[in-house]
Amino acid sequence: MSLPEFSNSQQLQKILISEINSSPQKRITFARYMNLVLYHQQYGYYSSGIVSIGSKGDFFTSSSLGKDFGELLAVQFEQMWQNLACPNPFFLVEMGAGNGELAQDILNFIQNEGSKDFIAALRYIIIERSPALIKLQQELLTPYEQIKLSWQTWSDLAPNTIEGCFFSNELVDALPVHLVTKNHNTLQEIYLDLQDNQLTETVAAISTKKLAQYFELIGIDLADAQYPPNYRTEVNLEALNWLEQVAAKLKRGYVLTIDYGYSADKYYRPARSQGTLQCHYQHRRHYNPYVNLGYQDITAHINFTALERHGELYDLRTIGFTQQGLFLMALGLGDRLNQLSDGKHNLAEIFKRRDALHQLIDPTGLGGFGVLIQGKNLTKQEQELQGLNTPSMF
Ligand SMILES: C[S@@+](CC[C@H](N)C(=O)[O-])C[C@H]1O[C@@H](n2cnc3c(N)ncnc32)[C@H](O)[C@@H]1O
Repeated sequence: MSLPEFSNSQQLQKILISEINSSPQKRITFARYMNLVLYHQQYGYYSSGIVSIGSKGDFFTSSSLGKDFGELLAVQFEQMWQNLACPNPFFLVEMGAGNGELAQDILNFIQNEGSKDFIAALRYIIIERSPALIKLQQELLTPYEQIKLSWQTWSDLAPNTIEGCFFSNELVDALPVHLVTKNHNTLQEIYLDLQDNQLTETVAAISTKKLAQYFELIGIDLADAQYPPNYRTEVNLEALNWLEQVAAKLKRGYVLTIDYGYSADKYYRPARSQGTLQCHYQHRRHYNPYVNLGYQDITAHINFTALERHGELYDLRTIGFTQQGLFLMALGLGDRLNQLSDGKHNLAEIFKRRDALHQLIDPTGLGGFGVLIQGKNLTKQEQELQGLNTPSMF
């Protein structure tokens, strides 16, 4: 782990060294490391504004492919509103809005195609951790005359008040994770300490019993003989905190989570002995989180079983778990593909749109993302959602 050449990297390195030196055991967890390099107020990858999402950025998301993804989500949101008997206000809370493109596609579609009553009822709220991204979002999302849009923090939302839907696309994979390993047949944690002033991984007892409780929750035991010695993987405790917060604010309605990930048995397969941690830097994927500090994204896949089981403890019932491709097809993506042959589009446009639509449903790419929908205080009828009208392949 050599000293990085960039200034934000050097600042982060100094901060990390000082934090390690001042901690009682002279080490920090990997989750703390990831939290600093991604979200340090001044130098973190997301907070400093270095983050770049899109075809020319470090990584792209479904909304980078055009407006279809956001528009199809908007179809689902209006149906959720109808399912709840058209409450006014109806809150749509987008968490982790990136460069704001997804919000723009959703809001433009609702403004142009939504029913008058839906538009009047809608309160679109963005909860975003990065100040630099909030600025970008506010520049992009020029005032909508009829739609009420605001940026809020968790503490702005009173408990048990939100009727509507909390949703996120690729938020949970960006939350800091703990790294754990199987050492001498016990669950241990990977920390960072300093050896010759260099950040170095070291293994010791787990920093919190919540890590062991996490494996109990999902029914996985790394001490089992099928897991090889030094098996290493991640635990996203932050995702559980996040879900608890969402459940506490939601009075009635839905939580829609879209991300790449697996159910627990697939995530913690014995053969996946190096976990799922990966980095994105200038549109290349690699596996070294200790380079390009503050200049690269670090992510881990998400464990949908943990979200489902933890959600149950906080009154969130799983309504459905499907793949993005199937979800978007049920919301009308197939019709959009067919409409491309209606003679109204030029050839270049047809190729570009068709490619984007195919990418959104490609089971080996974005189409294979998981879509988890949980609900609180809903009748059986209110749980019937258009996006879940195709059988899940999971
Ligand atoms: C990978 S980006 C996804 C962006 C966007 N949803 C998209 O689909 O393009 C993750 C986003 O989540 C934000 N974020 C991370 N942790 C957050 C938190 N605890 N609360 C709110 N936003 C958060 C990041 O700043 C960033 O905007």
